[in-house]
Amino acid sequence: MTVKQSVAWQALEAHLQKDILPCSLKQLFNGAGPKRFSDLSIATQGFLLDLSKQKLTPQTFDLLIGLAQQQGLAQATEALYSGGEVNRSELRPALHTALRAGSSDQYSAVQIDGKSVSELVAENLLHMERIASKIQQGEWLGYSGQPITTVVNIGVGGSDIGPHMVCHALDEFRVETKFPLNVMFVSSMDGSQLAEMLQHLDQGSTLFIVASKTFTTLDTLANAQTARAWLRKKIPSDSLIGQHHLVGCSAFPERMADWGIPSENQIALWDWVGGRYSLWSGIGLPIAIKLGMGGFKQLLKGAHAMDEHFQSAKLHENLPVMLALTGIWNNNFLGLKAHTILPYDGRLKLLPNYLSQLEMESNGKSVTNTGEKVDFDTSPVIWGDVGANAQHAFFQLLHQGTPAYYADFIVPIKRTASSEYTKATRLQLEYQQALNLANCVAQSRVLMLGDDVLTWEQSMAASPDRLYPGNHASSTLMFDELTPESLGALIALYEHKVFVQAVVWDINPFDQWGVELGKQIAKTTLSAIQKRQAGDASAECDEFDASTEGLLNYMFKHHH
Ligand code: F6P
Repeated sequence: MTVKQSVAWQALEAHLQKDILPCSLKQLFNGAGPKRFSDLSIATQGFLLDLSKQKLTPQTFDLLIGLAQQQGLAQATEALYSGGEVNRSELRPALHTALRAGSSDQYSAVQIDGKSVSELVAENLLHMERIASKIQQGEWLGYSGQPITTVVNIGVGGSDIGPHMVCHALDEFRVETKFPLNVMFVSSMDGSQLAEMLQHLDQGSTLFIVASKTFTTLDTLANAQTARAWLRKKIPSDSLIGQHHLVGCSAFPERMADWGIPSENQIALWDWVGGRYSLWSGIGLPIAIKLGMGGFKQLLKGAHAMDEHFQSAKLHENLPVMLALTGIWNNNFLGLKAHTILPYDGRLKLLPNYLSQLEMESNGKSVTNTGEKVDFDTSPVIWGDVGANAQHAFFQLLHQGTPAYYADFIVPIKRTASSEYTKATRLQLEYQQALNLANCVAQSRVLMLGDDVLTWEQSMAASPDRLYPGNHASSTLMFDELTPESLGALIALYEHKVFVQAVVWDINPFDQWGVELGKQIAKTTLSAIQKRQAGDASAECDEFDASTEGLLNYMFKHHH
């Protein structure tokens, strides 16, 4: 029997038909009065999660919680935290929560290769701290004795997006360094980012972090090889390059060593940390370099607080659980297959991108843990942008377009303008934040009510192309201020949300087999391109399908 045939799912279907589909969001509000907000919002852990603009009632959550319990959420959570093999296709635990457990001895009993996970994490944090502080103090010197003033992280996917998103969001929390320090990111396989960046850098003062859990990812290795070729132009030997200009983070020390990264410049990673859950590990080194170890630990602390909340809060008051169940309801019962993430804060510009990897790579699955094809939809399509900017881009579709979607509005309430600004500038910045908050709240209201926000006369005067149907569901997540701690908690909240959904759907959120085939096929395609580039005109493309063959032939013809 699939989850769809279960009692709990069927009860939700019946509730949908009887209580929800006959009503618009406006009617749900009218029926419940002001109580609707207090009944359907949760204020805890420094967050306010308002779910009242979702097409549901408190009864919907009672039934959804029944579904989660039926699917074994409590047992699955226990297995996650205790190092059980929750990554069932790769027979591994997923212990990202252990990376941020700080001094709590919760993970000391979890042993990997004879060492406790707590011990491994503590050693790693110390090693990261040594590297980060050497750079910050101006004591990490390049081959010619110049201090390092630029750090470039080379990675892709989880080895790029997480640290990049956090460094971008928390720029104003950067630690004071002896010399001005730039932390940059390169990920694109085509080399375009690196080619542009290298023109402005100097070999003697640049350090590259090669971040790759597997240390086999071609995108990263290709960028790293280009960086090394550039370093070789000035630096006389590969051992000087390795010693002064390369740091590596990987689960494979021997691969880092073979590539020329000396052991003292290597940061360990483990197979029990998934790529998209790894910013809390050595993959977060760029964060530690930028914010200082203090800032990095604040980020971990915020995430740990959310871990504890997820593990212990009652399900009705549990932020990740309620966010996850809202998504299940929207996706599997209301048929909303697209989910937009709208941070109302320019510093969170990269968050939608981060969450699209987290959610779609984790839960973009179509077979259950026991290998059966699912008969319901799993991860929706996730996209987004800074909310206020998106108002001038894809909000047209949100307000008047046809696809069914739901939205998450995410907004920090306060912005503290630096005291270095004049009073007039500070006042102006305060005004901008008020404007931003007003837009955030106004947009979710218009999505819900549509034309009903207008007076009767105003709506009567509107022509059809100016009508707003409204009735679009959204959640609003507010928190006090964007800090390393609140950002850590926010990320962990979404991580656990993804986990809860995977439990309900009985899928594995910790593997990503779907990305492997494309990588393999790219290799054979590359060899065809290289043969033709080397002048082997006989390198036919007839092993490919007609479209691929046509594309390759066109490429060869226009190459020179
Ligand atoms: O191709 C997808 C992926 O495997 C992600 O899961 C991962 O974060 C990324 O590639 C990078 O992998 P690695 O850190 O091994 O280079």
